[in-house]
Amino acid sequence: MPNTLVIHAHPRPGQSVVTQTLLEALTPLKHTAVRSLYALYPDFDIDVAAEQEALSRADLIVWLAPVHWYSVPALMKHWFDQVLTHGWAYGHGANALHGKTAWWVASAGGAEATYAPGGAHMRPFADYVAPIEHTARFCGMHWLPPFVVHGGHSCTTKQVDDARTALVQRLHHHLANMPARPAPEAQP
Ligand SMILES: Cc1cc2nc3c(=O)[nH]c(=O)nc-3n(C[C@H](O)[C@H](O)[C@H](O)COP(=O)(O)O)c2cc1C
Repeated sequence: MPNTLVIHAHPRPGQSVVTQTLLEALTPLKHTAVRSLYALYPDFDIDVAAEQEALSRADLIVWLAPVHWYSVPALMKHWFDQVLTHGWAYGHGANALHGKTAWWVASAGGAEATYAPGGAHMRPFADYVAPIEHTARFCGMHWLPPFVVHGGHSCTTKQVDDARTALVQRLHHHLANMPARPAPEAQP
């Protein structure tokens, strides 16, 4: 059974509805570890060795966070900067993350229709995915289509429940179809 690592970042978890619901759906699942960055590192002083150790044990890495300014919250971006280091995550001979799978699970305040030409956000949400996607790909990871819950400010209870159910179904689908990791000697 593949191991899942959820990297969760919400600066105000007590005020979160969507991200918190998705977190609570993932936390009890078997072979799943959760690291809530704002709880672990309120001062942004990330334990890089501990994060890399957690990553090394994972097959599927879930980045779970609300969308903040078309990206991830500041501490998750800081986590990318600190943890995905040269010589470990990327660079000549660095292959710690090669063959693992990355999945961005996001809550966006904007409704789906606002992510379109003429809408408040002007572009499809997919246009804002590229920096996160290529962070994963640059580290040799497989990339899954993001799971995005739109309209996070105004979701009904039913919409949040449906999102939770859909997320768990998607997760099981992904786990059942995980690509095999290449043998270390076969990695570039
Ligand atoms: C600093 C900040 C930046 C935000 N930027 C965006 C954004 O770029 N696009 C968007 O759709 N929503 C944006 N939002 C709204 C959040 O994504 C939304 O409040 C969140 O997804 C709701 O989920 P929650 O219930 O887990 O907090 C932003 C919110 C904050 C506080």
